[in-house]
Amino acid sequence: DIDISKEYLKKINKIYIVACGTAMHAGLVGKNAIEKLCKIPTVVDIASEFRYRDPIIDDKTLCIYISQSGETADTIAALKLAKAKGAKTLAVSNVIGSSITREADYTIYTHAGPEIAVASTKAYTSQVVLMVILAMYFAEVLGSYGGIEKLKADILDLPAKVEAMLDETDAIKEFANKVYTEHDMYFLGRGTDYNVAMEGSLKLKEISYIHSEAYAAGELKHGTISLIEDGTPVVAVATQDALLKKTISNIVEVKTRGAFVMAVTNEGNTEIEKTADYVIYIPQTNAYFANSLAIIPLQLFSYYVAVGKGCDVDKPRNLAKSVTVE
Ligand code: AGP
Repeated sequence: DIDISKEYLKKINKIYIVACGTAMHAGLVGKNAIEKLCKIPTVVDIASEFRYRDPIIDDKTLCIYISQSGETADTIAALKLAKAKGAKTLAVSNVIGSSITREADYTIYTHAGPEIAVASTKAYTSQVVLMVILAMYFAEVLGSYGGIEKLKADILDLPAKVEAMLDETDAIKEFANKVYTEHDMYFLGRGTDYNVAMEGSLKLKEISYIHSEAYAAGELKHGTISLIEDGTPVVAVATQDALLKKTISNIVEVKTRGAFVMAVTNEGNTEIEKTADYVIYIPQTNAYFANSLAIIPLQLFSYYVAVGKGCDVDKPRNLAKSVTVE
């Protein structure tokens, strides 16, 4: 849908990805792909912070705005600010013709179909995939990454892998049924697994009203591990092979303090069974697309916890689907 020249991309020295909530979490995964595939420094910011902090922007900055609805007031205001400072703007939206797409210089659509429930699910997975595709496109134009064809082939396998995961939900349900009466839960991960953990934690809070926090697993010992006690539910995400051993050692740390752990990892990483109480396997894919698969067990977990508590999973209290006011 977009045509961005090599000259323009070569000129860019910084990318901002700006969004709110779940869309911001998708931006964090996008940052990793852009930095790795294109080597362009990328900063992710919350729209309601970005718009008031006088960000350093000029005509060498590309600002990307992610918004499922395309109507989020803070995200639109953040886009207008960057435009006024001379940056090019690119919107990632799910709603054709939405306000943000009318303001942006470029738009790409997630084409996920209407998302009705307040808690974003398919919008997130499609935003994550689209952000990686965008990074692949930039990398192709720049000639900065050699493995693009393999990544393209992997995209086509994703739908079948998602379907296979939706057929294997018993263990997730069982773990959810054991913990839904708890008051606090923790989500851990490293790298983009941490970003997925943040989204899993937000989903749980939104629809089950259970307090939860996501932590970069290596940061636990700097304070938060004091909150782990006998039976504390912990969801650990470990799909990034380069970080697997480190994350497993963090799972051991929380297990030693009594945590009750469900781990999400790639097929074949069976050594994690020695540590975690429940292990959910995602089908093998590359590190960039593992994020869009790893979130599915976390979304299902929140769903089963919310159903267990008798909550309305589609219309959680105090929340609106589109936040069109500040
Ligand atoms: C996600 O489950 C929430 N509904 C919320 O965080 C949402 O992602 C956020 O309000 C941004 O909405 P948008 O993508 O429509 O801009």
